[in-house]
Amino acid sequence: MEQIKITEVGPRDGLQNESKELSVAQKLEFIRLLNEAGLCQIEAGAFVSPKWIPQMANSDQVFQELQKMNLSGELSALVPNLKGLERALDCGVKKIAVFTAASESFNQKNINCSIEESFQKIEPVVAEALKKGLQVRGYLSTAFYCPYEGHVKAESVTPLIHRLSDLGVHEISIGDTIGKALPNDVTELLTTLDFKSLPQIVMHFHDTYDNALENIKVSLEQGVRHFDSSAAGLGGCPYAPGAKGNVATRSVVECATQLGYSTTVDLHKLKLAEDYIVKALS
Ligand code: HMG
Ligand code: MG
Repeated sequence: MEQIKITEVGPRDGLQNESKELSVAQKLEFIRLLNEAGLCQIEAGAFVSPKWIPQMANSDQVFQELQKMNLSGELSALVPNLKGLERALDCGVKKIAVFTAASESFNQKNINCSIEESFQKIEPVVAEALKKGLQVRGYLSTAFYCPYEGHVKAESVTPLIHRLSDLGVHEISIGDTIGKALPNDVTELLTTLDFKSLPQIVMHFHDTYDNALENIKVSLEQGVRHFDSSAAGLGGCPYAPGAKGNVATRSVVECATQLGYSTTVDLHKLKLAEDYIVKALS
């Protein structure tokens, strides 16, 4: 049985959009339960500006404590600039994710700069991270629709994916930030990409309009084997109005199993993580 890879983004993409701010201890318990459930790629926090995303302000302590917990697998953090990288390195982070978007308006609202300026910011971050031996993911948000500009054409998205690839990142996560993409949009973009010449492609679907599972199915048909998801379907971006949760990890596992793929996730144990986080946020 072929295995698909899941990166659990609940502790970052999920919690960044919740009005309730969780303590370090609550985040650690959530991450521990996720790892216990077999999720071995977990995006555990973000070294972004605490003024912009207060929910992630305690990421430094979260990562410091995670170092002591000896969890299996890869823990990663979102990093917007060199200051974020410095914080990540100080906490012993081994994998970072840089991010930009395919639409100018979203980039301005989300990181206060243009697409071009965002590449100028992330280039030295990626170079320094690679020099230090870190794993690096590059995110491209609004790869299908922008909350401010509407449909984003595939031909303006592919050069940005190649530009991220040229930086030397190990994987590229393509974001349907507001969950508006339809299977045709996904097929159109993926068929234009030459997977062999690119780092690992990951699909990051938000499930605002219940399209995520159909989009995952067409992504699998196109050869994608790595998906982002959040336990209990938490998530969204505060600078993407209408962006609801990420596709739920449970749904991805069930869908993959039905289609004949395996995952590392134990659904009974995942329930403990889901119950924990739903209660912590209520
Ligand atoms: P800025 O205000 O333009 O930055 O923000 P600046 O460089 O002018 O700095 C302003 C202040 O922020 C300064 O402090 C800096 O020191 C501080 P002050 O002098 O005013 O006291 N600062 C920082 N502090 C801590 N850590 C840092 C940092 N950088 C600057 N790393 C910035 C620019 C990028 C920092 C800001 O816009 C930001 O943090 N944005 C993050 C927004 C965010 O996290 N959005 C959600 C994640 S993206 C997402 O969810 C999409 C995704 O899931 C994929 C998808 O769904 O498509 C990944
Ligand atoms: Mg997201």
